[in-house]
Amino acid sequence: MTPDIYAVAGNPVAHSQSPFIHAQFARQTGQLISYERLQCPIDGFSATVQAFAAAGGRGCNVTVPFKFEACRLARTLSPRAALAAAVNTLRFDQDGWFGDNTDGAGLVRDIEGNAGIPLAGQRILLLGAGGAAAGVLGSLIGTDPAAITVANRNPDKARALVESHQELAKARRVQLLACGLTDCGRSYDILVNGTSASLAGAGVPVSAEVLKPGALALDMMYGPLAANFLAWARSNGAQARDGLGMLVEQAAEAFEVWRGLRPDTKPVLAALIERLA
Ligand code: ATR
Repeated sequence: MTPDIYAVAGNPVAHSQSPFIHAQFARQTGQLISYERLQCPIDGFSATVQAFAAAGGRGCNVTVPFKFEACRLARTLSPRAALAAAVNTLRFDQDGWFGDNTDGAGLVRDIEGNAGIPLAGQRILLLGAGGAAAGVLGSLIGTDPAAITVANRNPDKARALVESHQELAKARRVQLLACGLTDCGRSYDILVNGTSASLAGAGVPVSAEVLKPGALALDMMYGPLAANFLAWARSNGAQARDGLGMLVEQAAEAFEVWRGLRPDTKPVLAALIERLA
C-alpha cells in the first residue's frame, strides 16, 4: 500500500516541525501517511498547491503568509474558517476542496489544557491582524474573556478584523477593541503575539507595560524565532510560552479533519520539546 500524502505549504517551511508531528500522530494511530514540506514562491502558492493535489496529495496545512489566499481556494469552509476568512488546513475532496482553520482551537487547548490557564474573564491583548491572528480571534472570543484588544502595526487592519468578529463578541458579551501598537493599553492578563515581526528580524513590537505581573505571554512562533520574545517576557515578569504547544494542538485538529481520528498530543509535545532542546 502507498501512503496518503500531505504537506505543509508556506514560505518559509524549511524549519517546520509539522512533518515530525504528523509522523508521530500516524505512528500512534496506525495511519499510513507521509507528510512533506512544500515551499511555495510568494506569487506561486495556488499553482504549487494545485500541482501537489494533481500529483496525488490529499491535503495540506497552510502557513505564513498564505492563510488568506488558501481561504479563496476552498470550495467549502468550516464555520470557524469562514469567520476568520483564513484557512490553515485544506482537504482535497473529490467534489471540491474543504478549508478549515484549526489554529484557534489549538491555541485555546494549549493555554487552557496544557498550560492550565482558564481564559474566561481575562483581559487579552492579541498582536497582529494577519492570517495567524485572524485564525485565533474567534476561538479566543469563544472562551468568554472579559475583553480582547487586537493591536496591529497597521491599525486599519486591526479594525477590519475586529469588525468582522464584533457580532460574535457582542453575542458573548466580550468587549472587543482595535488599536495600533503604541496605544494598546496596559496590564493585560494574557498577551498573544500573532505578528510575524520576528520573521522579519524585528524585536518585540510593544512596550512591556502591556504585561501585568505574572501575565501569560505567548508567542505563536517557536524555536529561534521565539527566543527574543520569550526572553523579553521573562525579563518583564511574565510567564513565557512559545508556540510549540499550539503547533501540536492545531496539528492534531488537522489530523482529525483528514483522517477522522484524534491523536494523543501529550507524548508528541514532549517528544518535540526534547527534539528541539
Ligand atoms: P501571518 O499568517 O503570520 O499572520 P501575515 O498575514 O503576513 O502573516 O501577517 C503578518 C502580521 O505580522 C501582520 O499583522 C503584520 O502587521 P501589518 O498588518 O501592519 O503589516 C505583522 N508584522 C509583520 N512584521 C512586523 C513588524 N516588524 N512589527 C510589527 N508587526 C509586524
